[in-house]
Amino acid sequence: MPASLEIEGGVPLRGTVPVSAAKNAALPALAAALLTSEPIRLANVPSLGDVRTMLTLLETLGAEVSRDAGELRARVTRVENAEAPYELVSTMRASVLVLGPLVARHGTARVALPGGCAIGVRPIDQHLKGLARLGAEIAIENGYVVARASRLKGTRIMTDLVTVTGTENLMMAAALAEGTTVLENAAREPEITDLADLLTAMGARIQGAGTARVEIEGVPELSGATHRIVPDRIEAGTLIIAGAITQGDVTITDLVSDHLSALLAKLDECGVGLEVGPTRVRVRGPERPRAADVITSPFPGFPTDMQAQIMTLLGLADGQSRVTETIFENRFMHAAELSRMGAQIETEGSTAMIRGVPFYQGAPVMASDLRASAALVLAGLAARGRTQVSRVYHLDRGYERLEVKLGSLGARIARRP
Ligand code: EPU
Repeated sequence: MPASLEIEGGVPLRGTVPVSAAKNAALPALAAALLTSEPIRLANVPSLGDVRTMLTLLETLGAEVSRDAGELRARVTRVENAEAPYELVSTMRASVLVLGPLVARHGTARVALPGGCAIGVRPIDQHLKGLARLGAEIAIENGYVVARASRLKGTRIMTDLVTVTGTENLMMAAALAEGTTVLENAAREPEITDLADLLTAMGARIQGAGTARVEIEGVPELSGATHRIVPDRIEAGTLIIAGAITQGDVTITDLVSDHLSALLAKLDECGVGLEVGPTRVRVRGPERPRAADVITSPFPGFPTDMQAQIMTLLGLADGQSRVTETIFENRFMHAAELSRMGAQIETEGSTAMIRGVPFYQGAPVMASDLRASAALVLAGLAARGRTQVSRVYHLDRGYERLEVKLGSLGARIARRP
């Protein structure tokens, strides 16, 4: 039986808790190690399922990986093998981040096509279109993307939609291309800026990261670098909602509050008490949140990765809320599980209508994906009685010891084997 979390709900959380480094910045930073023969040192890589999968993939490709007092060192002296196998890509879509670096440095790459996942179809056509614009020959062979190029050539790339890992893949590939690449309609997430900071420390020339137009002047070689990964804004947001939903008083530290603006504005609208500093947020839960409408969009809009968690809070609001998911077509799996705890949620297409109830009841529930698991843990913290969240391996992919952090705030939460 996979591990589960058992939560005795109804305890207002109190205390101070730090956030870890961002999963979605750590994964591209690790992939960037493929761009150079020198070591990349990352000061604060979180210990997560997805990070372990990325390290396994890097080792398959020829990386030497070591950890020393919290610092992770990855060195790819030579690319030994340019294939990202289906077993790894199918467990973690972000494996596709090795495609750009491999083709740029090694000249070939074979990466399994990820296929669909719990939250949507998630094609990678924009990654491939961009690499083809940079001069790579792309073919699909037996479920694998095969990319080849002698040296990529800088060009203008306008993606049809905003894609986070697509922007990262193309930024990494363009860093070693000949000439200048301009990425238009680029994603603006803080994780993009963080990757640009690392690449710049490696010798890349990048301007405009964090805006919709990123300019990359290619260089023939990149060097090693040391980097500290940006704090995880989604973990921070999840902990903030944990404070709010339990009517607690929690201070979350080591975050960047500028990265949380859309969430904080929405929580303010819901009547959640917030004291916001540059790197910390104190949250005090209202007796009952006010209803609000939420629509997800690329950064700086409301993050899809916080949609499940805010829906859990709105499920307890005084009034009716509407949540619209615009990024992924199937990201409401938590709604049915929350209903098992007493929530009143109706979904239709990309919209969920939520009629707030005064309390949730503890129940056995099942996690379907990473952020849905976090939402169920939040519901369990607020609920009357005992909640058991099974398939907690989804949670472990992206949260570092969440139950330990919540436990330090007084939550009654335990992991069961
Ligand atoms: N899309 C395409 N074609 C492409 C690329 C994307 O149609 O070539 C579509 C996707 O299907 C989706 C939308 O564009 O509908 C946006 O997808 P995006 O590419 O931005 O997502 P991603 O890069 O695969 C990252 C995060 C996700 C996060 C999304 C959106 C990483 C490793 N993953 O995924 O994180 O939800 O951006 O912000 O950075 C999570 O951490 O739980 C998670 C799912």
